Amino acid sequence: MRELRDRVVTEIRKVVVGQDYAVDVLLAATAVGGHVLLEGVPGVAKTLLANAYSRALGLEFRRVQFTPDMLPSDVTGTMTLRGNDLAFRPGPIFTNLLLADEINRTPPKTQSALLEAMQEAQVTVDGTPHRLPEPFLVIATQNPIEYEGTYPLPEAQLDRFFAKIDVGYPTADDEHGLLRLAHRGLTPSTLDDVRAVVTADELRELRDGVDATRVDDEVVRYISAVVRTTRSQPSVLLGASPRAGVHVLAASKAAARLGDRSFVTPDDVRAVAPAVLSHRLLLRAEAELERFTPADVIRSVLSQVPVPR
Ligand SMILES: Nc1ncnc2c1ncn2[C@@H]1O[C@H](COP(=O)(O)OP(=O)(O)OP(=O)(O)O)[C@@H](O)[C@H]1O
Ligand SMILES: [Mg+2]
Repeated sequence: MRELRDRVVTEIRKVVVGQDYAVDVLLAATAVGGHVLLEGVPGVAKTLLANAYSRALGLEFRRVQFTPDMLPSDVTGTMTLRGNDLAFRPGPIFTNLLLADEINRTPPKTQSALLEAMQEAQVTVDGTPHRLPEPFLVIATQNPIEYEGTYPLPEAQLDRFFAKIDVGYPTADDEHGLLRLAHRGLTPSTLDDVRAVVTADELRELRDGVDATRVDDEVVRYISAVVRTTRSQPSVLLGASPRAGVHVLAASKAAARLGDRSFVTPDDVRAVAPAVLSHRLLLRAEAELERFTPADVIRSVLSQVPVPR
């Protein structure tokens, strides 16, 4: 599966510079059926990355730009009159990869509709459940700067995301590299060159492989200790949930499998912990004032908990 991972990374590098880690997290999410939050200021290629990723995986892609006036049914679908019969008209959520752009610009009612569907892999309209396609992956984006008129996702909703990726500014070399990419007008001219390099069979194989990945009890204990330690940090108001632990375990298995191993090492856990845990921690106001971040807490927790060898 290492070869599959390299194939996807190489394909996406045709249009997106310097986001290999993000691609790794997206692959892990795809492998376990989790959903990803991309956080970053405007213009750092969040949309481009989601688009390129769907192409490289050969997934059907839809984008919904969230706005304050959006209704839950604009996402999930509605009952419409067809002739004399009421029929369900599926909303944009019925796709393989949904880019939920600027999710914090829409009111909580519409956010919950999306998050519920994410959790249950189905949409219920008028009492009738409708299964979402398989695979189903949501990439939601949000801007870290809270503008007036935004609705920040509450912690309870954030916990439903498998991982969060901070998409930051590029390094000087990457900035040079992205300016050097071929453009047609304002858009990268190579986006159409991004080919599907993974088959549906390979995706299934990846998923099955992750489920079959072995985890020694020692490593399970390590994950549990990391999760529990987040709850006792002085700077933390709300630590990682038990669900967070389940997600760390799944992410670690995916990391092992994508690295061609059939067992999880503590290093897999350490590699995935920042992406899987940081968005679930709520810090005390004092800690935030001192510009202490959830990423700092995870770093500190990983240095406190003894690593099994
Ligand atoms: N790392 C990068 N590699 C390649 N191109 C980049 C990169 N970062 C930015 N760009 C360029 O910036 C453009 C804007 O990217 P995109 O629209 O994906 O940003 P965004 O993060 O979704 O912004 P917004 O928050 O405004 O939606 C891209 O089309 C691309 O030309
Ligand atoms: Mg965008």
